[in-house]
Amino acid sequence: MNQDQQVITAPGKIRGTIVIPGDKSISHRSLMFGSLAHGTSRISGILESEDISSTISCLRLLGADIRLDGQDVLVTGNGFGGLIEPSIPLDCGNSGTTARLLSGILAGLPFSSTLTGDDSLRSRPMARVIDPLTLIGASIKSVNSDDLLPLSVSPISDIREDVVIETGVASAQVKSAILLCALSAGVGVTVKEPLLSRDHTERLLTAMGAEFVYPTELTGHSVKLLKREKELEAVDITVPGDISTAAPWIVAATLHDDAELVLQGVGINETRTGILDIMKMMGANITIVSEKNVGGEPVADLLIKSSSLRGVIVEGELIPRSIDELTLVALAGSRASGQTLIRDAAELRKKETDRIGRTVDILQGFGVDIVGTDDGFVIKGDTELSSSVSDSYGDHRLAMLAAVAGTLTKGQSYVTNASAVNISYPAFWSEFERVCGENTI
Ligand code: S3P
Repeated sequence: MNQDQQVITAPGKIRGTIVIPGDKSISHRSLMFGSLAHGTSRISGILESEDISSTISCLRLLGADIRLDGQDVLVTGNGFGGLIEPSIPLDCGNSGTTARLLSGILAGLPFSSTLTGDDSLRSRPMARVIDPLTLIGASIKSVNSDDLLPLSVSPISDIREDVVIETGVASAQVKSAILLCALSAGVGVTVKEPLLSRDHTERLLTAMGAEFVYPTELTGHSVKLLKREKELEAVDITVPGDISTAAPWIVAATLHDDAELVLQGVGINETRTGILDIMKMMGANITIVSEKNVGGEPVADLLIKSSSLRGVIVEGELIPRSIDELTLVALAGSRASGQTLIRDAAELRKKETDRIGRTVDILQGFGVDIVGTDDGFVIKGDTELSSSVSDSYGDHRLAMLAAVAGTLTKGQSYVTNASAVNISYPAFWSEFERVCGENTI
């Protein structure tokens, strides 16, 4: 028997309150920017997961002082000059955010370093950061000349002021790498992206004293970082709950016909709430309560109840705002009336796995009528799901997708490589047992 397997018994009902763990994107940024700032930043509510551990171990190799203080994390930095040349390659594990944001920071600093990662990360595209960072004057290249990790970074020498860079892809990782390289090299830069990607980098750096303007004369979505006149200042950060972590519960409680869940402390930054907009377009019953501002990010509780859905077309600006949730939208489409179409989402093929191909494999296993296209999915609705044995393919989001699909069948399903959830949500299976487990049919 596979030790890393979870059994899912279709629950008679889904009920409960779930405190949503810290946002992964903001947790990475808090640690990285805290290490670059002057002084000690206190971070509350940070996510504890494998991806965040990867960022912490890389930053420690760069000389950052990261300590626990009760439930909080204290990060002490000495400004941009405070980081030191690492003695060994920096292993980013499975984390694209770690690799891409660190590549930006390191490319702007006056020492050499190497970045690498696990098999999945070493197959993910890096030209998207190598090319723009080179335009700023950085010396960064892929060791095997294949635009993949490992990347070798040499001290920046030929720094260019106020370059305007078009990313061609709506990616917060790419945007952030460019902004961070310019910031650490001490120059201004303008980044133009086709659609707005998540803006956590701009928000947190602004709180630490960096200055951005948003040029309206340029088409698309542009952000201009002004040349840095001083060091970043340490700040206290409260990390909101991760809407991407809330998403499996949002979809499970909507699709199951006897469900009610309260999700507490969810970050609802507009650049991330595509999943709420899509589910509401489909007819979901989602109530947003107790909205407040936590350290420059909006946060609320979500009340989700069972609903009947209709098929929709998901495209355009909704895509970067829901990129990590689109596999769950495909599942929702299978239970909606009519057809659901997801397009403009070719980026899904470049995630921890090819999330178009692997989602089709998993959902077809449950009997879903779904076809993968170059940039999305076509899903036929009104489908009764049947039990299945799914593989997560080592992808945390796909392990959770299979778990949610399993709640909609009438029997037992299995998910292998189930511990992939540890990348972003180590408590997922225990929470699953708590809200779905006691109520089996
Ligand atoms: C992230 C940005 C997104 C997202 C990833 C986290 C970030 O990637 O898919 O899980 O923290 O900036 P892209 O920016 O490459 O779309």
